[in-house]
Amino acid sequence: MEKPAESARSRPFNGKVKVLKILISFYSRTGNTRNIAARIGREFEDNIENEVVVEEIKESGVDRGGVSGYVKAGKDALSRRRSEIITPVNNPGNFDLVVIGGPVWAWTVSPPVSTYCSDYGVEAIKVAFFCCMGGSGAKKTFSEMQKLCKKIPLEVISFKDRELKTEEIILRKKIQNFVAACQE
Ligand SMILES: Cc1cc2nc3c(=O)[nH]c(=O)nc-3n(C[C@H](O)[C@H](O)[C@H](O)COP(=O)(O)O)c2cc1C
Repeated sequence: MEKPAESARSRPFNGKVKVLKILISFYSRTGNTRNIAARIGREFEDNIENEVVVEEIKESGVDRGGVSGYVKAGKDALSRRRSEIITPVNNPGNFDLVVIGGPVWAWTVSPPVSTYCSDYGVEAIKVAFFCCMGGSGAKKTFSEMQKLCKKIPLEVISFKDRELKTEEIILRKKIQNFVAACQE
């Protein structure tokens, strides 16, 4: 039977509830990862009064829109072409935990997330990862992110596009379990 998500509110830390400063950094081409990032953020805030900042990773000088953008995204991921990203506002080193998310592209991490992990994720004290995907590639994506951040994640979680549309209760539970595991 699935373990129920424990309420972090009831979990004392040195006699007090431990409040964390959390940065959620995500890249999203079509909105799925953005949606999940916002939901993870709300769950962290609801769980206990964590301080949560959600920041979008933005590429510079590339258009990923439309069919040509899709094709280029696939080629860039396959060739592991470096993506240039706009310097993030938030320094990962200033947070207790950095949760990094993005879509799976060509069965691996997308170039903007890859750049974020190698250039900024390395500065994080602790990391956790999430990804959105059509159906497969999460394992490779997480192992690449781990290598680039040079850190073992506290927890990882993947979401299939189908789940986002049809499985609200399962989705909610998965997010609750992920957040609870990150707070242990
Ligand atoms: C270029 C490209 C390659 C993709 N490759 C994969 C893949 O290998 N495996 C998979 O399950 N989904 C793949 N997808 C689907 C996306 O990972 C999925 O739709 C995801 O939810 C998109 O997230 P976003 O809306 O945040 O951009 C690919 C999408 C794109 C654009």
